[in-house]
Amino acid sequence: MPPNLKKMEDGIRHIARRAVDRMCAGGGNCDFVKDVALGYPLHVVMEILGVPEEDEARMLMLTQQLFGAQDPDTARARNAMTTEQTSNLMQGVVADFNAYFRDISAQRRTTPREDLATVIANAQIDGRPISDIEAMGYYIIVAAAGHDTTSSSTAGAIWALAERPEELAKIKADPSLVPGLVDEAIRWTTPVKHFMRTATADTEVGGRPIAKGDWLMLCYASGNRDESVFEDPFVFRADRKPNRHLSFGYGAHLCLGQHLAKMEMRILFEELLPRLKMLALDGEPKMSQSTFVNGPKALPVRFELA
Ligand code: HEM
Repeated sequence: MPPNLKKMEDGIRHIARRAVDRMCAGGGNCDFVKDVALGYPLHVVMEILGVPEEDEARMLMLTQQLFGAQDPDTARARNAMTTEQTSNLMQGVVADFNAYFRDISAQRRTTPREDLATVIANAQIDGRPISDIEAMGYYIIVAAAGHDTTSSSTAGAIWALAERPEELAKIKADPSLVPGLVDEAIRWTTPVKHFMRTATADTEVGGRPIAKGDWLMLCYASGNRDESVFEDPFVFRADRKPNRHLSFGYGAHLCLGQHLAKMEMRILFEELLPRLKMLALDGEPKMSQSTFVNGPKALPVRFELA
């Protein structure tokens, strides 16, 4: 939540500045996904969670295998698979995450620290200790969704700006537009494409009858391009107002990490954009292949420093 995050702002800015320094020192071009967008939110969330830096590469690999189970570059199996095979592979990845966090959980119960793993391991729900399955759910969502989505949205912003010099110039001239850029990038990229819900009662949505027990697909990617809500939904506008996107979901399960994600992105853009004089694509960007969570997996850019 924002009051706690405020205390982390300096630490996160330090990590962002290091990422930007590395990008700028690397010359006038880079693959923004591999060189900046993947490592920065990963490092931030692993520090918060309490995962040691030497295990970050393993967390990234498991995350990519989980969300990229349909992508030939990241999947554990390289050939086209049936839905059942994909699902079995994903269960294998979840089992690896579980094995890792079972050890962390046990350590944090005996030796608590100042980290999120300690909070999860020792949590009480309605007076009873959190169950293993609940704890594992939180560990995995933070260790996977807690960085991949933010990386994708960050890269989505840089992709959009590299194709729109006028939009970049607007933000450089008026840095108060950065929070709007963050929201527009999260709408534009919509890293989580959908979630499912089961109707708990008979109802109606948009004139269509829904029966209790029906499955509904909440298609955030489509909602975020809804022309009855967004003016020119297919146009990227850093100054879009209002921007009532649904990228963080809606209702009881609304994303718990939304303030952290937005803060990380804001800080990175505050550090990076003033240092750029020019930004352009330097080859063809590529999206990861997935029907669930995805984003840019390669973003070659060239840039000139101010
Ligand atoms: C741009 C970045 C992010 C996007 C687009 C995103 C998206 C989402 C979505 C769509 C949901 C499900 C909402 C629903 O079912 O209604 C969700 C849930 C969640 N997210 Fe995020 N997320 C992001 C960043 C993060 C970060 C950085 C963290 C943690 C550090 C995080 C932690 C969680 C958790 C714990 C939940 C589960 C909440 C619950 O079930 O009560 N997310 N997120």
